[in-house]
Amino acid sequence: MNPIIAANWKMNLTKSEVELFINKSNQIMASLTNIDLIIGPAFPYLNLVANQLLNGEVAAQNISEFKSGAFTGDVSAEMIKSCGVNTVILGHSERRHKFNETNDMIKNKLNLCETYNLKPILCVGETLEERKSGQLEHVIKTQLDVLTPFKHEYYIAYEPVWAIGTGETATPEIAEDVHAYIRNIIGNQPPILYGGSVNSKNIEGLLKMPNIDGALIGGASLKIDEFSEILSISNALERVSK
Ligand code: PGA
Repeated sequence: MNPIIAANWKMNLTKSEVELFINKSNQIMASLTNIDLIIGPAFPYLNLVANQLLNGEVAAQNISEFKSGAFTGDVSAEMIKSCGVNTVILGHSERRHKFNETNDMIKNKLNLCETYNLKPILCVGETLEERKSGQLEHVIKTQLDVLTPFKHEYYIAYEPVWAIGTGETATPEIAEDVHAYIRNIIGNQPPILYGGSVNSKNIEGLLKMPNIDGALIGGASLKIDEFSEILSISNALERVSK
């Protein structure tokens, strides 16, 4: 299986910066065949990226928990699907912690993913407090429970909250421990990405772990040189097959 490298651009980049980035990424990806690339731009650029990205998938960063109607400012699953998007990041810790998104809301979004045939990247992860107080497994298990009735394909992204945007990455061993725990619960099929301060210096060590199938990358995915370095390193790695 190719490593999956997913960029989460969050609320960054203007339209011209997005166009420039996609242009460069198309040039780089033309010679890299061992990577599955996913780009997650903000809503206004979904259509543009879906049309211009040659080697890769586009992902939305969120969808509304509601199907349609009077929800000013929300963007629905059906809308992103109609823009050529097949993948969506769900339950990112910034949504959970800054916008009070609950597991019940994420469950509603997963139902809409089933209706509109969208592949979710479900983010799970513990805070430092939860880790220190021994609740790690309970938190992850509860966050994964929303998948119980989910029948379609999906990805998991393990993103320890204490490692996101902080420069503090989980060591490959710490991440692998949690990935192995998740693998035990969800089985062999769904890819499990790691996220949290991934960069060109730590990507290799992370991807060498048997249960780390790829990375969800925020800050380092915004700089084209750093991101292409990550792509080249990942492309050159031989993954241990499960
Ligand atoms: P980071 O973000 O790489 O900047 O830590 C990762 C994420 O939030 O998905």
